[in-house]
Amino acid sequence: MPNTISGFSKLSKSEKIDWLLNTYFTDKDSARTLVQRYWNSDKKLQKLHDEFIENTITNYYLPLGVAPNFLINDTTYAIPMAIEESSVIAAASKAAKFWLDRGGFKAEVLATEKIGQVHFIYEGDFDKLNAFFTEVKPKLISATAHITKNMERRGGGILDIELRNKTEDLPNYYQLHATFETLDAMGANFINSCLEQFANTFKTESFQFKGFNNTEKNISIVMSILSNYVPECLVRAEVSCKIEDLKSKDIPNPEVFAQKFKQAVSIAEVEPYRAVTHNKGIMNGIDAVVLATGNDFRAVEAGVHAYAARHGKYSSLTHCSVENGIFKFWIKIPLALGTVGGLTSLHPLVNFSMEMLQKPSAKDLMKIVAVAGLAQNFGAVKSLTTTGIQEGHMKMHLMNILNQFEATEAEKVKLVEHFKTNVVTHSAVVEAISKLRN
Ligand code: MEV
Repeated sequence: MPNTISGFSKLSKSEKIDWLLNTYFTDKDSARTLVQRYWNSDKKLQKLHDEFIENTITNYYLPLGVAPNFLINDTTYAIPMAIEESSVIAAASKAAKFWLDRGGFKAEVLATEKIGQVHFIYEGDFDKLNAFFTEVKPKLISATAHITKNMERRGGGILDIELRNKTEDLPNYYQLHATFETLDAMGANFINSCLEQFANTFKTESFQFKGFNNTEKNISIVMSILSNYVPECLVRAEVSCKIEDLKSKDIPNPEVFAQKFKQAVSIAEVEPYRAVTHNKGIMNGIDAVVLATGNDFRAVEAGVHAYAARHGKYSSLTHCSVENGIFKFWIKIPLALGTVGGLTSLHPLVNFSMEMLQKPSAKDLMKIVAVAGLAQNFGAVKSLTTTGIQEGHMKMHLMNILNQFEATEAEKVKLVEHFKTNVVTHSAVVEAISKLRN
């Protein structure tokens, strides 16, 4: 096959780049210059990044920004956000400031249970399997002692293991469904190591179990893996105030605003097409903080969206009430996050973000992340139901368009000024640039 290679990972970094340039690029010199421009001149730092993954050729930058003025319970935070979308940090900062003057955000962690499963196939009598499980369960736990020792010393560990009969869904399919408390660690490695040990012990002990015939002894372990669906690792965040206190420059009529805002949230509760975009806006805030703090945003995304569909229909993650003169807006989401281990101790900017957040526990971080999601959604729905989204969005996007046209600093100053009083659209900016240049 043309353009394929074996042993790529064994090549040195510069050999990898040479192969890529020779195979896929026309202007090899510019491509090489670009790749090298993004290398860090600090060799130690570059090596650290090279070693995060396999086949690193360069770095891919995302801006790390900050949304200050978040009052969460009794603490004020400046929240670090790594994101490419121009309007996200501006919207978060604006929402933070808005609620700072109205009592801030209240957040609480409702539960912190993580889940992992050993999936296996067993052909035989369920009562016998159950009897075997009852007998082997203490051994499953004791055999993981070398893995759980440190976690237990800190107060975490395995919470329980259940045998689950899933044969109604798939013939001969059963699970060991285990729950864990992993404290400040996200816990993926801890959980997966425990699960693989459970699977080993389960399999080995099944050969000794007197109650099984030969077919029943032949348990087949299919896989052992944590679940990113963590509906019992839950956090709730809320804002509320008197309806009249919503009054501000953007909200001249708070009663009308509150009702329309609630309608927008109700629409996202019942209409999946809207719910997906509504929740995407929430994830703008959540992913940005998750990424800045070195957590796994794919895990968070997968778990959050599964939760949004838990009643069989995809729905809004936020809710709103307007009752007895009070406007209340809240979010409840599952979040499995860590503030120790993984990238958190390796990436210097993650360390920096953690310090900015006053070295949060995993529970603190769950609250901060949920608040970032709620704030983002408040900002988006507020714009959508008042000015429309494009006004703010395009204002923030203006700089991207100017950069696309390689505007000079002097041109930028003039055009930013011009668009303070003119509507930003792509064609309006193009027109204004060419007018200025002519
Ligand atoms: C854009 O990234 C996010 C929004 O579409 C969210 C929403 O519609 O609620 C503005």
